[in-house]
Amino acid sequence: MFTNRRAALVTGAASGIGRAIAERLEADGIDVLAVDLRPDPDGPGVPCAADLTTREGNGDAVREALERFGRLDAIIPSAGFQHVSPIGEFDEDRWDELVALLLTSPFLLARYGWDALAASGAGRFVAIASVHGVVASPFKAGYVSAKHGVIGLVRTLALEGAAHGISATALCPGYVRTPLIERQISAQARAHGLPEDRVLEEVILEPHAVKRLIEPQQVADVVAFLLGPSGAPFTGAPLVMDQGWTAR
Ligand SMILES: NC(=O)c1ccc[n+]([C@@H]2O[C@H](COP(=O)([O-])OP(=O)(O)OC[C@H]3O[C@@H](n4cnc5c(N)ncnc54)[C@H](O)[C@@H]3O)[C@@H](O)[C@H]2O)c1
Repeated sequence: MFTNRRAALVTGAASGIGRAIAERLEADGIDVLAVDLRPDPDGPGVPCAADLTTREGNGDAVREALERFGRLDAIIPSAGFQHVSPIGEFDEDRWDELVALLLTSPFLLARYGWDALAASGAGRFVAIASVHGVVASPFKAGYVSAKHGVIGLVRTLALEGAAHGISATALCPGYVRTPLIERQISAQARAHGLPEDRVLEEVILEPHAVKRLIEPQQVADVVAFLLGPSGAPFTGAPLVMDQGWTAR
């Protein structure tokens, strides 16, 4: 039995930012399909297993959302990973996986979910990009390239979505306190021979003007705002929340 509740598809929903978004949207009364490679049956939303580096995985996720909820009002791609390597040694398969997950998956989700977003009357596409969608760092060629690509994708979706009431944007956070970053802190501490608190301030947070990690809930709060009526004008431009990183 379908209800009048809005429905959202959130990827990477088992961990970190995606999980915080799924929790927040569910608390706001939105039905959430929580898509992940390793979904958490005890996590927020309806768990859905999919490998989003494949066309089938993205197609199955959209189909599952429509079958379960009968509608799709918002797509929030957040699944991702990082790979750090100098360009001369950058593993080509990792490049392909990064582009597939960070850029092609958002494209496929938009492609397959477009008619449903248009039928919503107030469709929202909010990609979780990164400050690395607007600036680069060394040794992150695949991640930086894919995140820049997703900014181009949402610009295009915004233009095509305008006539259908669909807003499309990309949220660009600086460093957020998630397992993805916690793994980097311990690895950098070992590599630099520094205690973890010094690694955080001197290595990880070096580009932040404000030497603090962003909390996943802060990202989720912005997504919740973007899905509301006042979020509609945020379309076609990236939305940067970076603790002052790009102010320099
Ligand atoms: N943490 C940060 O500092 C930060 C900053 C800016 C942007 N981001 C972006 O935010 C997003 C979420 O990152 P996070 O920090 O929450 O990471 P995370 O590692 O906590 O969560 C990522 C999730 O993606 C899932 N995933 C990985 N490969 C997948 C696949 N092939 N198919 C389906 N799911 C897959 C993982 O299982 C995991 O649950 C990513 O796109 C990341 O690039 C993170």
